[in-house]
Parts: sequence; C-alpha cells; structure tokens
Amino acid sequence: MTNERRWSEVDSYFAKTLVGSDPALEATLAANAAAGLPSIDVSAPQGKLIHLLARMSGARNALEIGTLGGYSTIWLARALPDGGRLITLEVSAKHADVARRNVARAGLGDKVEIRTGPALETLPKIEADGLGPFDFVFIDADKSNNAVYVEWALRLSRPGTTIMVDNVVREGEVADAASRSTDVVGVRRMFDLMAREPRLSATAIQTVGAKGWDGFALAIVS
Ligand code: SAH
Ligand code: DHB
Ligand code: MG
Repeated sequence: MTNERRWSEVDSYFAKTLVGSDPALEATLAANAAAGLPSIDVSAPQGKLIHLLARMSGARNALEIGTLGGYSTIWLARALPDGGRLITLEVSAKHADVARRNVARAGLGDKVEIRTGPALETLPKIEADGLGPFDFVFIDADKSNNAVYVEWALRLSRPGTTIMVDNVVREGEVADAASRSTDVVGVRRMFDLMAREPRLSATAIQTVGAKGWDGFALAIVS
C-alpha cells in the first residue's frame, strides 16, 4: 500500500471514530461536489481541530479568509457560543452562494456572515465597520497573500487572539528558499513576518492525511 493510501485510511479511521457521522457536513461536501467546487476543504479531523482550538480559546468572534463551500466555516461557527459571530470572506460569488446554502442547512445562518469580494478589499471594510477585534482568525485563501492576511489579522486582533493558517507546507516545498511558486513565496513571506513580529508567538506543524502532505501554522497575539 502506498503511504498516501495509508494516510487516507488513518484519516478515515479518526473521522469515523472521533468525528462520527454529521449530516450537515456530509450534505455540504455533497453540495460542493454537485456544484463543481474543488475538494480542497480541510479534512474532517482538521475541521474538528479548528473547532476544538476555537472552543479551547473561548472564542466568540471569529474571522475566516477563504470560505469555499463553508465546510471549515461550519466547524468553526459551531465552536462559538450563542451570540458569537463568524465573518468569512470569499472572492467567488459562486462559492459564496453554495456556502450560504450549506451554512443555512446547518442551522448557522444567523451566526455566519459571508462577505463576497477579494479579501484585500473586504478586510478594510471590516475594519471600517468596527467588526473587530476577532478572537480567532483562520486564513485559508490565496496563499500568495498570506503575509498580508496575517498583517490584517494582527490589525483586527486583541492580545490573546489565535491565528491559524492552512497549507503552509505544500509537499515540503516551503523549505525551499529558491522556490519560484508564488504560493510558496507567499507562505515564506508569512513565516518571515511571524518570525520578526514581536506581538506574535508562532509554530507550524506538518500533517499527512487525506489531503496529502501539508501543514498549518498557529500563532497567538500578545
Ligand atoms: N476554508 C475552506 C477552503 C478554502 S479554499 C474549507 O476548508 O472548507 C480557498 C478559497 O479561497 C476558495 O474558495 C477561493 O475562491 C478563495 N479565495 C481565493 N482568493 C481569494 C481572495 N483574494 N479573497 C477571498 N477569497 C479568496
Ligand atoms: C489548495 C488550497 C487549500 O486551501 C487547500 O487546503 C488545499 C489546496 C489549492 O489551492 O490547491
Ligand atoms: Mg486550505
């Protein structure tokens, strides 16, 4: 058996034993596939990790950059208490439409607001609308802008805010300083920022699973 197959099987085992069947999440993945969205949502165990981190940190207000069909959105929104809010940013009107239906089906329509447009345009509007500070920020959109998104997360944060960034390993290419992939350059720029920004304490963890070899970064604002 290839390593990739085994990683997937272990993910399925964890999903089955610890995550369990979840009609709203399963319907979300089915609706995404029916609409032709790419299946680049976080895995079920990763979704639950986001959920647990948000609960552990007592988050009430959360920000997500990169909604797709709202799979991670649902995991994160479910972690927030009554009265909590999640704002999620998506450039594609089509993705946002699918996500709105998925979020409504999950009973989270009142908790989640999806803002459509390039995040670099919607983030200033969020600041202008006075919607921060956010307790938890999940960054999972165009990787080339990751450093700018972390800067925005900082701007919209308070001491104690958790920042999580998806897809920071990219099959190991992140370690290649000569990489010309705009994604990798963007991720490395983000790590440079995390390293030099005194308000951030950060780490990054490699993962294998149903989505291959990748990883996430985790930071707290002081
Ligand atoms: N967080 C989702 C997956 C997001 S995939 C999940 O785990 O379920 C990345 C998403 O970011 C895609 O839907 C893509 O359209 C969106 N995206 C890409 N560039 C963007 C930008 N500049 N602003 C906002 N969203 C963007
Ligand atoms: C891609 C984006 C993601 O957010 C992800 O989790 C996996 C892949 C991509 O753009 O290829
Ligand atoms: Mg991702």
